[in-house]
Amino acid sequence: MSTRPGEAEPLPGTLIYRGAEADITLGTWQGLGAVFKSRKPLRYRLPALDDSIRRQRTVREAEMIEQAKRAGIRAPFLYAMDLPRATLVMEYVRGDRLRDLVGSLRTDEAEDAFERFGRSAARMHTAGIMHGDLTTANVLMKGKDLFFIDFGLSARTDRLEDHAVDLRLIKETLVGAHPGVAQAALDSLFRGYASEAGTQRFRSVLRQLKSIERRGRYARVE
Ligand SMILES: Nc1ncnc2c1ncn2[C@@H]1O[C@H](COP(=O)(O)OP(=O)(O)OP(=O)(O)O)[C@@H](O)[C@H]1O
Ligand SMILES: [Mg+2]
Repeated sequence: MSTRPGEAEPLPGTLIYRGAEADITLGTWQGLGAVFKSRKPLRYRLPALDDSIRRQRTVREAEMIEQAKRAGIRAPFLYAMDLPRATLVMEYVRGDRLRDLVGSLRTDEAEDAFERFGRSAARMHTAGIMHGDLTTANVLMKGKDLFFIDFGLSARTDRLEDHAVDLRLIKETLVGAHPGVAQAALDSLFRGYASEAGTQRFRSVLRQLKSIERRGRYARVE
C-alpha cells in the first residue's frame, strides 16, 4: 500500500479549489467549518524529493501562519496538520478573494481595502516576515477584514530586497489583473504601508523596488 502523502485516501469534504500544487476541500473539523489544504504528489519530481518538498512547505505554511498572526496579521486559525498527507486543516474563512471583489468595490471601499492591505504587508515585513506570494488571490476579504493565506513560500527575513520582492509581486498583480484600478490601489497600498512602517522605511523599500524593476528591464530578452 502506498504511503505517499496525498495518495492514501481522498480528502474529506467538497473540493472547492484545484491548484497546480494543492487541492482545497471544504468540510468540518470537530464540528467547525474547515478547509483541508493538501499538497498533491507531482509526477515530474523524484518521489522522495517530492514528498520532502511537500512536507516542508506544509510545515512552513503552518509555522508562518502562526508567526504572521503573532505579528498582528489576520490569517486562518490552524486546526491540525497531517504531515504524511502534506495536509493542513484550518479555519474556513467565510469571505471572498480580494481578486474577485476588486471589480465590484466602491472607490472608497477599494481605497480602504488596499490601505489595510498595505498596513498588513508592512506589519509582516516589520516583524521580519516575507509573504512570498503576495497577490490579490491570496487575500480573503470578510466584511472589512483582510485574511492572508497561502504562506507556503513565506520566509523569515529582514532584508529590504525580500520585502521589495513582495511589493513587486503585488504591484505586478494589480497592473496585470486589475489594470483599471491598479494605480489608485497602489497609491492606497503604499499609503497604508508608509503609515505602518514609517516614511523612512517605506522610502527605502520603494527605492529597492525601483531598483528591482530596473534590473528586470535590463535582463529582459527582447
Ligand atoms: N482558510 C481558507 N478559507 C477559505 N478559503 C480558503 C482558505 N484557504 C484557501 N482557500 C481557498 O482556496 C484557494 C487556494 O488556496 P491557497 O491559495 O492556499 O492555495 P494555492 O494557491 O493552491 O497554493 P499553492 O499553489 O501555493 O500551494 C484560495 O484562493 C481560496 O479561495
Ligand atoms: Mg494561492
